[in-house]
Amino acid sequence: MKNIRKINENYRYLGVNDREISLFENVYPMIDGMSYNSYLLKDEKTVLFDTVEKSFRAEFMQNLKDALDGCNLDYFIINHLEPDHAALIKDVVDKYPNVKIVTNQKAKDMIYQFFEFDFDIEANFNIVKEGDTLNTGKHNLTFVLAPMVHWPEVMVTYDTTDKILFSADAFGSFGALSGNLFDDEVEFEELIGEYRRYYTNIVGKYGAQVTALLNKAKNLDIKTVCPLHGLILRKNISLIADKYQKWASYTPEINSVLVVYSSVWGNTKNACEIIASKLAAYGIKNIKMIDISHLHSSFALASAFKYSHILIATTTYNNDIFVNMKHFISDIVSHNLQNRTFAIIENGSWVSVCAQKVKELLSTLKNSKFIEKTITIKSALKENQEIEFDELVKLIKDDLNK
Ligand code: FEO
Repeated sequence: MKNIRKINENYRYLGVNDREISLFENVYPMIDGMSYNSYLLKDEKTVLFDTVEKSFRAEFMQNLKDALDGCNLDYFIINHLEPDHAALIKDVVDKYPNVKIVTNQKAKDMIYQFFEFDFDIEANFNIVKEGDTLNTGKHNLTFVLAPMVHWPEVMVTYDTTDKILFSADAFGSFGALSGNLFDDEVEFEELIGEYRRYYTNIVGKYGAQVTALLNKAKNLDIKTVCPLHGLILRKNISLIADKYQKWASYTPEINSVLVVYSSVWGNTKNACEIIASKLAAYGIKNIKMIDISHLHSSFALASAFKYSHILIATTTYNNDIFVNMKHFISDIVSHNLQNRTFAIIENGSWVSVCAQKVKELLSTLKNSKFIEKTITIKSALKENQEIEFDELVKLIKDDLNK
């Protein structure tokens, strides 16, 4: 029995769902699986858009055969070389040896990095540049380079006939699909958190390059977005584009406080509970607390992209920042977070060095600043420190209200 989905008269969906994956890219915990999307255009010429991850070789090759339904495969567009989409390039070329591989020069070079072919495929390549087009009969496809969204060879393909953008990794999300292919078939608002976690962790570092792609996309009349992960977008394109504008420019989505703490024996946690209560007493809404030892850094990074103010509370450990907190801070620095206000609480039973070390790391972030008051706890909170807590909370509140 075939599992081929129609997107419209000419396009078919050939993607697969990984419901057993625990870590995407061997880093990011998956809470609801992952989809690897691939598409087929059946026009006077047939066109395959990317492939899927290697574990799904048999399923994908069967999908492709079923969707072609006896037709030959004429073109194979490769928008992105990462193996979650490109693992089956050799399988496709072996099965359809006359296929024209449509991609850019950088991607071609990477194909040879990943694969050794059984025959010379040089004649198969149709190398395209920015703005080049391919006519398939009724459809015109235009190629738009999108370097570093998420790898240097990435391009996206725009169908000017059906006004579909094949967006590679852009506008995708973590999460497997469950029958419904389109964003207007699900409670889309509930999925924004995973769109944010996907964006921030996968391409969060490359805000300038994402902005360049968004600027190019503004000139296109896009009715449908077909990404390589997640739902096909046709209702929420402007919602996700607005989110991307914010994320790519490192603009906070919410004016409130994210409290990220590490606590060995609960005393630093206690300090954060008190701070959060005091902030709430000032009427500050949507405060969020994260124990960085119990939530994977990828979730905390996504929240850091969302919030305007981030309170870091951590312990001195091995004469350094507590290990899980150090990982989180390194994550936000390496993802190029900007435009944030930080506050710091440190704890140390015989020596406290972590506030200074946290500050040194975060000082590298562009357009970011620190609340001038830092609190040092020696092991556990003391009654006489409440005045310091009140001072810190007031400074944060005043900064939020600026
Ligand atoms: Fe989904 Fe960069 O690959």
